[in-house]
Amino acid sequence: MAGGQGTRLGHKGPKGTFDIGLDSHKSLFELLSDSLKEQGKKYGVVIPWFIMTSKENNKDTIEFFDKHRFFGYEKDKNIFFFEQGELPMVDTEGKILIGEDGLIKEAADGHGGIYEALVKNGMTKKMRELGVEWLFIGGVDNCLVKMVDPILMGIAIQKQVSAAGKSVVKANPQEKVGVFCRKNGRPSVVEYTEIPKDMAQAIDERGELIYGESHILCNLFNIDAVERMGSKPLPYHSAFKKATYIDKNGKTVVPDGPNAYKFEAFLFDAFGELDDMAILRVKREEEFAPVKNASGVDSPETARELYKKFYNV
Ligand code: UTP
Repeated sequence: MAGGQGTRLGHKGPKGTFDIGLDSHKSLFELLSDSLKEQGKKYGVVIPWFIMTSKENNKDTIEFFDKHRFFGYEKDKNIFFFEQGELPMVDTEGKILIGEDGLIKEAADGHGGIYEALVKNGMTKKMRELGVEWLFIGGVDNCLVKMVDPILMGIAIQKQVSAAGKSVVKANPQEKVGVFCRKNGRPSVVEYTEIPKDMAQAIDERGELIYGESHILCNLFNIDAVERMGSKPLPYHSAFKKATYIDKNGKTVVPDGPNAYKFEAFLFDAFGELDDMAILRVKREEEFAPVKNASGVDSPETARELYKKFYNV
Protein backbone atom coordinates (compact mmCIF):
# COMPACT_ATOMS: atom_id res chain seq x y z
CA MET A 1 0.00 0.00 0.00
CA ALA A 2 1.65 3.14 -1.20
CA GLY A 3 -1.29 5.46 -1.74
CA GLY A 4 -1.09 7.37 1.55
CA GLN A 5 -0.44 11.08 1.75
CA GLY A 6 2.29 10.86 4.38
CA THR A 7 1.13 14.14 5.92
CA ARG A 8 2.92 13.55 9.21
CA LEU A 9 6.22 12.82 7.52
CA GLY A 10 5.91 15.87 5.30
CA HIS A 11 7.91 14.39 2.41
CA LYS A 12 7.17 15.90 -0.97
CA GLY A 13 6.27 13.08 -3.31
CA PRO A 14 5.14 9.49 -2.76
CA LYS A 15 6.17 8.10 0.63
CA GLY A 16 7.83 5.11 -1.05
CA THR A 17 10.36 7.44 -2.66
CA PHE A 18 11.55 8.60 0.76
CA ASP A 19 15.22 8.09 1.65
CA ILE A 20 15.47 7.12 5.34
CA GLY A 21 19.09 8.23 5.45
CA LEU A 22 21.03 4.99 5.08
CA ASP A 23 24.53 5.24 3.61
CA SER A 24 23.13 3.64 0.43
CA HIS A 25 20.42 6.36 0.26
CA LYS A 26 17.97 3.77 -0.93
CA SER A 27 14.31 4.72 -1.01
CA LEU A 28 11.65 2.77 0.89
CA PHE A 29 10.57 1.25 -2.43
CA GLU A 30 14.09 0.03 -3.10
CA LEU A 31 14.49 -1.41 0.40
CA LEU A 32 11.28 -3.35 -0.08
CA SER A 33 12.32 -4.54 -3.52
CA ASP A 34 15.68 -5.73 -2.11
CA SER A 35 13.92 -7.92 0.41
CA LEU A 36 11.47 -9.29 -2.18
CA LYS A 37 14.28 -10.13 -4.58
CA GLU A 38 16.33 -11.79 -1.87
CA GLN A 39 13.40 -14.01 -0.93
CA GLY A 40 12.66 -14.70 -4.59
CA LYS A 41 16.22 -15.89 -5.05
CA LYS A 42 15.93 -18.14 -2.02
CA TYR A 43 12.86 -19.88 -3.43
CA GLY A 44 13.87 -19.68 -7.10
CA VAL A 45 10.88 -17.59 -8.19
CA VAL A 46 10.03 -14.02 -9.08
CA ILE A 47 7.53 -12.84 -6.51
CA PRO A 48 4.87 -10.68 -8.19
CA TRP A 49 4.62 -7.21 -6.69
CA PHE A 50 1.43 -5.16 -6.75
CA ILE A 51 1.69 -1.53 -5.76
CA MET A 52 -1.33 0.49 -4.76
CA THR A 53 -1.04 4.18 -5.53
CA SER A 54 -3.51 7.04 -5.31
CA LYS A 55 -4.67 9.44 -8.02
CA GLU A 56 -2.44 12.01 -6.35
CA ASN A 57 0.79 9.99 -6.51
CA ASN A 58 0.29 7.38 -9.24
CA LYS A 59 2.17 9.28 -11.96
CA ASP A 60 5.09 10.22 -9.71
CA THR A 61 5.32 6.67 -8.41
CA ILE A 62 5.50 5.10 -11.85
CA GLU A 63 8.00 7.72 -13.02
CA PHE A 64 10.17 6.94 -10.01
CA PHE A 65 10.11 3.21 -10.75
CA ASP A 66 10.78 3.89 -14.42
CA LYS A 67 13.81 5.99 -13.50
CA HIS A 68 15.11 3.08 -11.44
CA ARG A 69 14.30 0.49 -14.10
CA PHE A 70 11.63 -0.96 -11.86
CA PHE A 71 14.41 -2.30 -9.63
CA GLY A 72 14.83 -5.24 -11.95
CA TYR A 73 11.12 -6.02 -12.18
CA GLU A 74 9.19 -6.00 -15.47
CA LYS A 75 6.18 -3.73 -15.63
CA ASP A 76 2.89 -5.54 -16.26
CA LYS A 77 4.70 -8.87 -16.13
CA ASN A 78 5.69 -9.18 -12.50
CA ILE A 79 5.18 -5.68 -11.14
CA PHE A 80 1.79 -3.99 -11.34
CA PHE A 81 0.50 -0.58 -10.32
CA PHE A 82 -3.13 0.14 -9.52
CA GLU A 83 -4.94 3.17 -8.15
CA GLN A 84 -7.11 3.22 -5.09
CA GLY A 85 -10.45 5.03 -5.04
CA GLU A 86 -11.21 8.53 -3.84
CA LEU A 87 -13.92 10.17 -1.77
CA PRO A 88 -15.06 13.82 -1.69
CA MET A 89 -13.68 16.13 0.99
CA VAL A 90 -15.89 18.50 2.96
CA ASP A 91 -15.20 21.66 4.93
CA THR A 92 -16.03 22.17 8.61
CA GLU A 93 -19.63 23.03 7.67
CA GLY A 94 -20.03 19.83 5.72
CA LYS A 95 -19.85 21.57 2.34
CA ILE A 96 -18.14 19.84 -0.55
CA LEU A 97 -14.93 21.56 -1.64
CA ILE A 98 -13.87 22.39 -5.17
CA GLY A 99 -10.30 21.53 -6.10
CA GLU A 100 -7.87 23.53 -8.21
CA ASP A 101 -8.99 21.67 -11.33
CA GLY A 102 -12.53 23.00 -10.81
CA LEU A 103 -13.85 19.57 -9.94
CA ILE A 104 -15.06 18.21 -6.62
CA LYS A 105 -12.08 17.93 -4.29
CA GLU A 106 -11.42 14.29 -3.54
CA ALA A 107 -8.84 12.37 -1.54
CA ALA A 108 -7.69 8.75 -1.31
CA ASP A 109 -10.25 6.51 0.42
CA GLY A 110 -7.90 5.06 3.07
CA HIS A 111 -5.95 1.81 3.19
CA GLY A 112 -9.24 -0.07 3.48
CA GLY A 113 -9.81 0.92 -0.13
CA ILE A 114 -7.33 -1.75 -1.14
CA TYR A 115 -9.77 -4.65 -1.41
CA GLU A 116 -12.15 -2.84 -3.73
CA ALA A 117 -9.24 -1.37 -5.72
CA LEU A 118 -7.68 -4.81 -6.20
CA VAL A 119 -10.91 -6.25 -7.54
CA LYS A 120 -12.06 -3.24 -9.60
CA ASN A 121 -8.69 -2.85 -11.29
CA GLY A 122 -8.57 -6.51 -12.24
CA MET A 123 -5.64 -7.25 -9.95
CA THR A 124 -7.11 -10.33 -8.27
CA LYS A 125 -7.93 -11.65 -11.75
CA LYS A 126 -4.32 -11.03 -12.75
CA MET A 127 -3.13 -12.80 -9.60
CA ARG A 128 -5.21 -15.85 -10.43
CA GLU A 129 -3.70 -15.90 -13.93
CA LEU A 130 -0.26 -15.85 -12.34
CA GLY A 131 -1.20 -18.74 -10.06
CA VAL A 132 -1.14 -16.61 -6.92
CA GLU A 133 -3.22 -17.97 -4.04
CA TRP A 134 -2.05 -15.87 -1.12
CA LEU A 135 -1.57 -12.16 -0.99
CA PHE A 136 0.50 -10.34 1.61
CA ILE A 137 -0.66 -6.77 2.19
CA GLY A 138 1.64 -4.36 3.99
CA GLY A 139 2.48 -0.69 4.20
CA VAL A 140 5.27 0.89 2.18
CA ASP A 141 6.38 2.82 5.24
CA ASN A 142 7.60 -0.19 7.23
CA CYS A 143 11.18 -0.66 6.07
CA LEU A 144 11.43 -4.04 7.82
CA VAL A 145 8.21 -5.45 6.38
CA LYS A 146 8.64 -9.18 5.73
CA MET A 147 6.43 -9.70 2.72
CA VAL A 148 7.47 -13.30 2.18
CA ASP A 149 6.95 -15.47 5.21
CA PRO A 150 6.40 -19.21 4.84
CA ILE A 151 5.64 -19.49 8.56
CA LEU A 152 2.75 -17.05 8.34
CA MET A 153 1.38 -18.82 5.28
CA GLY A 154 1.94 -22.24 6.86
CA ILE A 155 -0.03 -21.23 9.94
CA ALA A 156 -2.93 -19.98 7.82
CA ILE A 157 -2.99 -23.23 5.84
CA GLN A 158 -2.63 -25.44 8.89
CA LYS A 159 -5.36 -23.61 10.78
CA GLN A 160 -7.54 -23.61 7.65
CA VAL A 161 -8.25 -19.90 7.81
CA SER A 162 -8.38 -17.47 4.91
CA ALA A 163 -6.22 -14.81 6.57
CA ALA A 164 -3.32 -14.46 8.97
CA GLY A 165 -2.03 -11.29 10.57
CA LYS A 166 1.17 -10.41 12.35
CA SER A 167 1.28 -8.69 15.70
CA VAL A 168 3.88 -7.29 18.01
CA VAL A 169 3.38 -7.16 21.76
CA LYS A 170 2.01 -3.84 22.90
CA ALA A 171 4.83 -1.97 24.65
CA ASN A 172 2.51 -0.83 27.48
CA PRO A 173 -1.26 -0.62 28.04
CA GLN A 174 -1.27 3.03 26.91
CA GLU A 175 0.62 2.57 23.65
CA LYS A 176 -1.22 4.24 20.79
CA VAL A 177 -1.79 1.20 18.61
CA GLY A 178 -4.78 -0.83 17.54
CA VAL A 179 -4.95 -4.39 18.87
CA PHE A 180 -6.42 -7.60 17.51
CA CYS A 181 -9.60 -8.77 19.16
CA ARG A 182 -12.88 -10.48 18.42
CA LYS A 183 -15.99 -8.42 17.84
CA ASN A 184 -19.26 -10.34 17.94
CA GLY A 185 -17.20 -13.48 17.50
CA ARG A 186 -15.44 -12.22 14.38
CA PRO A 187 -11.81 -11.09 13.95
CA SER A 188 -11.35 -7.38 14.41
CA VAL A 189 -8.97 -4.65 15.52
CA VAL A 190 -9.90 -2.20 18.22
CA GLU A 191 -8.29 1.21 17.97
CA TYR A 192 -6.50 2.74 20.96
CA THR A 193 -9.01 5.59 20.86
CA GLU A 194 -11.88 3.15 21.27
CA ILE A 195 -10.65 0.59 23.81
CA PRO A 196 -11.90 1.20 27.39
CA LYS A 197 -9.11 1.66 29.95
CA ASP A 198 -9.96 -1.50 31.94
CA MET A 199 -9.83 -3.60 28.78
CA ALA A 200 -6.54 -2.02 27.74
CA GLN A 201 -5.05 -2.94 31.14
CA ALA A 202 -6.62 -6.39 31.60
CA ILE A 203 -4.10 -9.22 32.03
CA ASP A 204 -4.41 -12.99 31.78
CA GLU A 205 -3.16 -15.67 34.20
CA ARG A 206 0.37 -15.40 32.74
CA GLY A 207 0.45 -11.68 33.42
CA GLU A 208 0.22 -10.76 29.72
CA LEU A 209 -2.14 -8.11 28.36
CA ILE A 210 -5.31 -9.79 27.07
CA TYR A 211 -5.60 -7.12 24.37
CA GLY A 212 -1.89 -6.84 23.75
CA GLU A 213 -1.38 -7.99 20.16
CA SER A 214 -0.78 -4.83 18.14
CA HIS A 215 -1.93 -4.78 14.56
CA ILE A 216 1.02 -3.67 12.40
CA LEU A 217 -0.56 -3.65 8.93
CA CYS A 218 1.12 -6.92 7.99
CA ASN A 219 -1.53 -9.38 6.89
CA LEU A 220 -1.85 -12.31 4.56
CA PHE A 221 -5.05 -13.14 2.72
CA ASN A 222 -6.35 -15.84 0.49
CA ILE A 223 -7.48 -14.34 -2.83
CA ASP A 224 -11.05 -15.58 -2.31
CA ALA A 225 -11.18 -13.60 0.93
CA VAL A 226 -9.85 -10.47 -0.78
CA GLU A 227 -12.52 -10.72 -3.45
CA ARG A 228 -15.21 -11.21 -0.84
CA MET A 229 -13.98 -8.22 1.18
CA GLY A 230 -13.69 -6.14 -1.99
CA SER A 231 -17.37 -6.53 -2.74
CA LYS A 232 -18.61 -5.19 0.61
CA PRO A 233 -18.62 -1.50 1.51
CA LEU A 234 -16.65 -0.48 4.60
CA PRO A 235 -17.50 2.24 7.13
CA TYR A 236 -15.72 5.56 6.77
CA HIS A 237 -13.63 7.26 9.42
CA SER A 238 -13.03 10.99 9.14
CA ALA A 239 -9.65 12.70 9.35
CA PHE A 240 -9.05 16.44 9.56
CA LYS A 241 -6.49 17.41 6.90
CA LYS A 242 -5.05 20.31 4.95
CA ALA A 243 -6.71 20.78 1.56
CA THR A 244 -6.12 23.46 -1.06
CA TYR A 245 -9.40 24.53 -2.66
CA ILE A 246 -11.12 27.18 -4.77
CA ASP A 247 -13.35 29.53 -2.79
CA LYS A 248 -16.67 30.96 -3.97
CA ASN A 249 -14.88 33.89 -5.60
CA GLY A 250 -12.79 31.52 -7.68
CA LYS A 251 -9.64 32.19 -5.66
CA THR A 252 -7.23 29.40 -4.70
CA VAL A 253 -6.92 29.01 -0.94
CA VAL A 254 -3.83 27.28 0.45
CA PRO A 255 -4.52 26.74 4.17
CA ASP A 256 -1.78 26.80 6.81
CA GLY A 257 -3.37 24.05 8.86
CA PRO A 258 -6.08 21.39 8.57
CA ASN A 259 -9.32 22.80 7.18
CA ALA A 260 -11.26 19.89 5.73
CA TYR A 261 -12.41 16.37 6.42
CA LYS A 262 -11.42 13.42 4.33
CA PHE A 263 -13.03 10.02 4.65
CA GLU A 264 -11.08 6.84 4.97
CA ALA A 265 -11.84 3.16 5.15
CA PHE A 266 -9.55 1.10 7.38
CA LEU A 267 -8.10 -2.17 6.18
CA PHE A 268 -9.02 -4.01 9.37
CA ASP A 269 -12.69 -3.03 9.25
CA ALA A 270 -13.06 -5.77 6.66
CA PHE A 271 -11.76 -8.49 8.99
CA GLY A 272 -15.35 -9.11 10.16
CA GLU A 273 -15.97 -10.69 6.75
CA LEU A 274 -13.53 -13.45 7.66
CA ASP A 275 -14.71 -16.51 9.57
CA ASP A 276 -11.46 -16.55 11.45
CA MET A 277 -7.92 -15.28 11.30
CA ALA A 278 -4.62 -16.65 12.63
CA ILE A 279 -2.38 -14.21 14.47
CA LEU A 280 1.37 -14.66 14.55
CA ARG A 281 3.29 -12.67 17.12
CA VAL A 282 6.61 -11.47 15.74
CA LYS A 283 9.51 -9.49 17.16
CA ARG A 284 9.14 -5.75 16.78
CA GLU A 285 12.87 -5.24 16.15
CA GLU A 286 12.78 -7.78 13.32
CA GLU A 287 9.67 -6.75 11.43
CA PHE A 288 8.34 -3.38 12.40
CA ALA A 289 10.18 -0.15 11.66
CA PRO A 290 7.57 2.34 10.47
CA VAL A 291 8.29 5.79 9.11
CA LYS A 292 5.35 7.94 10.19
CA ASN A 293 6.61 11.18 11.73
CA ALA A 294 9.31 13.62 10.67
CA SER A 295 11.03 13.22 14.06
CA GLY A 296 10.65 11.40 17.39
CA VAL A 297 8.82 8.06 17.54
CA ASP A 298 8.38 6.11 14.30
CA SER A 299 10.54 8.54 12.40
CA PRO A 300 13.27 8.12 9.75
CA GLU A 301 15.80 8.10 12.61
CA THR A 302 14.18 5.24 14.54
CA ALA A 303 13.46 3.25 11.36
CA ARG A 304 17.03 3.72 10.13
CA GLU A 305 18.49 2.44 13.42
CA LEU A 306 16.23 -0.63 13.40
CA TYR A 307 17.06 -1.33 9.76
CA LYS A 308 20.81 -1.01 10.36
CA LYS A 309 20.69 -3.28 13.39
CA PHE A 310 18.64 -5.92 11.64
CA TYR A 311 20.65 -6.01 8.41
CA ASN A 312 23.94 -5.23 10.08
CA VAL A 313 24.76 -2.38 7.67
P1 UTP B 1 -0.91 5.75 7.28
O1 UTP B 1 -2.16 5.43 7.98
O2 UTP B 1 0.30 5.89 8.12
O3 UTP B 1 -1.13 7.05 6.40
O4 UTP B 1 -0.69 4.65 6.18
P2 UTP B 1 -0.14 7.93 5.53
O5 UTP B 1 -0.99 8.56 4.50
O6 UTP B 1 1.05 7.18 5.05
O7 UTP B 1 0.39 9.03 6.53
P3 UTP B 1 -0.35 10.26 7.25
O8 UTP B 1 -1.39 9.64 8.16
O9 UTP B 1 -0.95 11.13 6.18
O10 UTP B 1 0.73 10.93 7.99
C1 UTP B 1 -0.26 3.35 6.43
C2 UTP B 1 0.00 2.69 5.10
O11 UTP B 1 -1.19 2.68 4.32
C3 UTP B 1 -0.98 3.34 3.09
C4 UTP B 1 0.20 4.25 3.30
O12 UTP B 1 0.85 4.54 2.07
C5 UTP B 1 1.05 3.43 4.24
O13 UTP B 1 1.80 2.47 3.54
N1 UTP B 1 -2.21 4.09 2.74
C6 UTP B 1 -2.81 4.90 3.62
C7 UTP B 1 -2.68 3.97 1.45
O14 UTP B 1 -2.12 3.23 0.62
N2 UTP B 1 -3.79 4.68 1.11
C8 UTP B 1 -4.44 5.49 1.98
O15 UTP B 1 -5.45 6.12 1.59
C9 UTP B 1 -3.92 5.61 3.27
